[in-house]
Amino acid sequence: MLRKLPQLEADPLWSLLHQFHADQREDKIDLLVGVYRDESGKTPVMQVVQDAEQQLANKAESKAYKQLSGNTKFNDQIAQFLLGNSEKLNSQCTIQTVGGSGALRVLADFISCASPHATIWNTDPGYINHQPIMEASGLKVEHFRWQQKQGELDINACFADLKDAREGDIILLHGCCHNPTGIDPTLGQWQAFADFCKNKGVIALIDMAYQGFGVNPEEDAAGLRLFIEQLDLVLVAASCSKNMGLYCERTGAAMIVTNDSKQLQNIRIVLERITRANYSMPPEHGAAVASLLFEQQQAWFDELTECRSRINDVRKALGSAFLELNAPPSLQVISQQKGMFSMLPLTAEQMILLRERFAIYGTANGRINVAGLQKSQIRTVAEALVEVIES
Ligand SMILES: Cc1ncc(COP(=O)(O)O)c(C=O)c1O
Repeated sequence: MLRKLPQLEADPLWSLLHQFHADQREDKIDLLVGVYRDESGKTPVMQVVQDAEQQLANKAESKAYKQLSGNTKFNDQIAQFLLGNSEKLNSQCTIQTVGGSGALRVLADFISCASPHATIWNTDPGYINHQPIMEASGLKVEHFRWQQKQGELDINACFADLKDAREGDIILLHGCCHNPTGIDPTLGQWQAFADFCKNKGVIALIDMAYQGFGVNPEEDAAGLRLFIEQLDLVLVAASCSKNMGLYCERTGAAMIVTNDSKQLQNIRIVLERITRANYSMPPEHGAAVASLLFEQQQAWFDELTECRSRINDVRKALGSAFLELNAPPSLQVISQQKGMFSMLPLTAEQMILLRERFAIYGTANGRINVAGLQKSQIRTVAEALVEVIES
């Protein structure tokens, strides 16, 4: 069997991270992996999470199996966090998943089961793992451009590329803080995407991995909420990795919202059948912590606001440095984008130059984790970028 095992390249992101750790230069800068870092460069455990873990340790409830859907209280809470006080809370089915990635895979399997010939329309550039997850479920993936024009998403480019989408196809949109570009649709553009779905019979799958990292938890969900009010069927993948800092606890949720409420019971059975044949049920700890954070929402929101403000401050400072250095507009737009990431307008060769000459590590396609940048590094990074882009 092993002789027939395909010889694959290691994951490029983790290879680069390995290279970063082996780099002996003291002033090296890691803008690779999508984790939030504070001003000292650490990815801290939120105080609200530490308090919740203490509370759970003091209670030490049973470790007996939970439901196949995971922690049902968490499921209700995250549904409300995503949808707000919408009547659609009565028209949805949510299950706890193994992070946002698990939610995407469960939903991909769900699509594959119900509509195996549907094409997934994915943004280009897009989140590095969307296409592999969809393809692992046997689905075909096509792309549409996701780029900025005059300070906002170039929606004409999107619709030009989406012209061949057919009824029953799936459009995969990022709820907020698009990874990797940081370009989010305006509310008017969300409406245009909703109209497109209605007119073409295309179904939306919204990946909400950064709610609270853009403007605030409410506004970041505005596009999703517009969709669920207007469309008959919406699929949602949610993650607590970033906004609660629960990365390695693998906490997320898959939600299906439908006007066809007679289907809800069967939807749950199908979702549970998918997870049962895979990992049976999700781990409890992260969901139990998340559930306490949803209960003590203000304290959690205060810490989340601190993270978001730091990222926004870094973006602003980077923008000012670019202005002072008279950098090209393609660099200056970084200050208008949202969330943890931005795409640098650099070629793969220029990204290598950035790494070799300046010890600044971003991914080969130009993505940088803005949330990994410390204020003291901003001027150095801005100067290096200007030098590389002009070389
Ligand atoms: C757009 C997007 N979706 C999903 C995920 C996966 O999140 P999780 O770590 O919860 O699996 C990420 C993580 O970086 C992401 O950026």
